[in-house]
Amino acid sequence: MTTIFNIPIGDSILEISYLIASVLFIFGLKMLSHPESARKGNFLAAIGMGLAIVCTLLFHKKDGKPIEHMVLILTAIAIGTAIGWWIAVKVKMTAMPQLVSFFNGMGGAAAALISLMEFPRMAPQLIAEHGMLNGHALAILLGLVIGSVSFAGSMIAFGKLAEKIGDPKMKFMRVVNLLFLAGILIFVVVILLQGNVDPKDISWMAYILLGMSLIYGITFVIPIGGADMPVVISLLNSFTGVAAAMGGFLYNNQVMLTGGILVGSAGTILTVLMCKAMNRSLLNVIIGAFGGGGAGLDKEAGSMKEIGVSDAAVLLSYSQKVVIVPGYGLAVAQAQHICHEMEKLLDEKGVNVRYAIHPVAGRMPGHMNVLLAEADVSYDKLHESDEINDDMRNVDVVVVIGANDVVNPAAVDDPSSPIYGMPVVRVWEAKSVIVMKRGMGKGYAAIENFLFFNTNTRMLFGNAKDSIQKLIGEIKNL
Ligand code: TAP
Repeated sequence: MTTIFNIPIGDSILEISYLIASVLFIFGLKMLSHPESARKGNFLAAIGMGLAIVCTLLFHKKDGKPIEHMVLILTAIAIGTAIGWWIAVKVKMTAMPQLVSFFNGMGGAAAALISLMEFPRMAPQLIAEHGMLNGHALAILLGLVIGSVSFAGSMIAFGKLAEKIGDPKMKFMRVVNLLFLAGILIFVVVILLQGNVDPKDISWMAYILLGMSLIYGITFVIPIGGADMPVVISLLNSFTGVAAAMGGFLYNNQVMLTGGILVGSAGTILTVLMCKAMNRSLLNVIIGAFGGGGAGLDKEAGSMKEIGVSDAAVLLSYSQKVVIVPGYGLAVAQAQHICHEMEKLLDEKGVNVRYAIHPVAGRMPGHMNVLLAEADVSYDKLHESDEINDDMRNVDVVVVIGANDVVNPAAVDDPSSPIYGMPVVRVWEAKSVIVMKRGMGKGYAAIENFLFFNTNTRMLFGNAKDSIQKLIGEIKNL
């Protein structure tokens, strides 16, 4: 047999391919952090995964024998690829969060199935030496629990985002859940303490653990409000990563371990960042509800001033610097294309137009970036809110389109407000502010916004898409 440093050549190729795949994952993940490079980053990571799969199929050996059931495996891969491809091509941009949740659930299910299959096949020698209390069994059980919770939770999150499952008011459920979780952990310990048994004889225990974990996944996500789903999905995403890493540990497979750890840590970091940007703790997202609190409108609100479309068109056309702040309402109105049209029109008139993107504007991470990218808005026009805040005093007009919480001054000046401390776009520092919204509807945090009563704020009421359409007509006539 040909060898390199006494290692069979097939094994060497496999190890090297895993190393290359891991590096591609890391670079791919890094590139995902900017919209311009994200597409390439995704492609790079996919190549890494493809390489790892192909090399595993070609070179992996168990007890010196190549992989069996190749036809079955290739058929399953072909069916999965075809379905995944079809769904990804067909899905509407607005249904992207559901799709992410669904795919994440599939990852969790795969990790749980691996554990379920490996449980009765644990090495008799290992059990004879250590009983069930060994690292291998622990990895299997944790993979089973975390993978199943991630699968069931992701399916519920999918249903909520697709508005097929509502938000039942079940505060008591959260307490029941904590007890149930404790029950699952105790059951894991009970399995580990079974001593020197044949795992096949106690595989029914693994099935009971599977059932308990699936039920917990459902009851964990059901009481959480639909708008909090992006945070929950990110959390479940990190669960799937950890479950996959357990599989890597089980098979001593470096690429599975690296991939799992990367997904697990990236999901955890994203969850923490989202909570920070909303100024909430993860516990508050999971067991509490957002909303209310802060000063009501009885505080001296002043009077609200409206602006007509033609006046707004004049104000914008004769400005030098304009900043657009998109929010959830822009997504609801699907006004991204028309907004880009307005931006181009103003640009042609010599107005410098930029977008200020708040990290949690909308309802999912990168929501605004995705929407605006879909409308072909140039990346260099998109700025993080922090960047624009420093220049806000020099901005002539800020146009707030369907945003509310992310431009609420209470985050800066009202310590009693639930969003106090949340980073916001300081639009009130600009010379003028035009706010487009349909009426006096509140935002996600369900609190008042005194920006609407400021002396330099003008309200342009109506559906964002209609308002911008009318504005474009007026700007063209100037
Ligand atoms: P929101 O505070 O939710 O405000 C959206 C505003 O858009 C509403 O006040 C609504 O007022 C208006 N609106 C709705 N439909 C409209 C339409 N068709 N045309 C015009 N206006 C419309 O949005 P935001 O400022 O983007 O803040 C996002 C919030 O979601 C934050 O509190 C954030 O913490 C939370 N959140 C974000 C995420 C992520 S990751 N992005 C995840 C979970 C939660 P009217 O009803 O009066 O029109």
